[in-house]
Amino acid sequence: MSKLRKLNTGRRKFIQDSAALGGAAALAGWVPSMALAQGTGKIKVGLMLPYTGTYGQIGLVITNAFKLAIEENGGKLGGRDIEYATVDDESDPAKGADNANRLVNRDKVDVLVGTVHSGVQMGIQKIARESGVLTIIPNAGVAAATTELCAPNIFRTSFANGQTTYPMGQVVAKKGHKNVVTLSWRYAAGEEMIGGFKDSFTKGGGKILKELWLPFPNVEFQALLTEIASLKPDAVFVFFAGGGAAKFLKDYQAAGLKGKIPLYGSGFLTDGVLEAVGDAAEGVETTLHYGDGIETPKNKAFRLAYAKAFKLQPDVYAMQGYDAGLLLIAGLKAVKGDITKKKEIIAAMEKVEIDSPRGKWRMSAAHNPVQDFYLRKVVGQENKVVGVAMKALDYPPASMCKMPR
Ligand code: PHB
Repeated sequence: MSKLRKLNTGRRKFIQDSAALGGAAALAGWVPSMALAQGTGKIKVGLMLPYTGTYGQIGLVITNAFKLAIEENGGKLGGRDIEYATVDDESDPAKGADNANRLVNRDKVDVLVGTVHSGVQMGIQKIARESGVLTIIPNAGVAAATTELCAPNIFRTSFANGQTTYPMGQVVAKKGHKNVVTLSWRYAAGEEMIGGFKDSFTKGGGKILKELWLPFPNVEFQALLTEIASLKPDAVFVFFAGGGAAKFLKDYQAAGLKGKIPLYGSGFLTDGVLEAVGDAAEGVETTLHYGDGIETPKNKAFRLAYAKAFKLQPDVYAMQGYDAGLLLIAGLKAVKGDITKKKEIIAAMEKVEIDSPRGKWRMSAAHNPVQDFYLRKVVGQENKVVGVAMKALDYPPASMCKMPR
């Protein structure tokens, strides 16, 4: 059994392995930093992600794919071995700063990779800005991370929340839908996702009939679905992700709304959930910076390698975790593994073109991907790419970041 496969033989086993790695890392904590400066020690990567709760599967998938990228690079960064310290952040914003602080100041990680939830990201952002630790965000889309709280040491390989939904507002308006009800969890990600949609949808002549909200991670959708049925909008636009997205798709169908009121979303609604929802997602259209069927050699190779290693189909989260690995590999290659050369690492990460399964992309001046957004439609078990909804989208614009230097 390969090392990667072993890590994925079950959630519990995975967490045990991670704990063991963390324990070994703690024992190795006495290694003098001189050894690291000379480039002989291991590079310590902190993974702060959710491994439980509604985003638990997302954290696991990001971890798998990040490690896959590293394994494909000979298991090394800039020629040096790696050790991991792993924390389950539980998607709990109240513990965000403490968890990040533990990894940075107690475990002394060289690089911090995290996280999924925008609220937790704000805790990471604080510690990353205070400590200057090299940080890669593999999912959380909170706008502040690459606008007013941007920093030279913080990079994102995923998206800004509104960036994923801005293209869909234009699509829905062009379809001629006039009155739309929106529904989401009320926290930074939900508010920004709905905000991006609303921005382009209203510019295109559409009207938001009503905004409906529920607290994260509540999945009691019944009363809201009843309200939607009585409001009779032309269409419904939602942001949900992970376990919550799967439950919503099933409930929408069970409430008799599927096929009656067209349902749209950011692509997170249908990514990573298709096996779990049967035909409840069939025909749903979304926009996202990834689609299963992107016909490039890079995407095909990635999908094959991921499926072989983990016996699962990859999704957008896997792609973002993989790209976090590719970005870090590029940064450390430029300094031959000398993690102390932070300026050179940052410069390399700023200018590299990532040859990603999503298509080639680069960082904006705010350290957020400038990338194409695909219009996708669920056909069977696939988020099929129908076309490109917007090309090279930089939203919110990088000019909103005054990068401190
Ligand atoms: C977020 O909280 O930023 C978030 C979480 C899950 C997603 C997208 C964004 O799929």
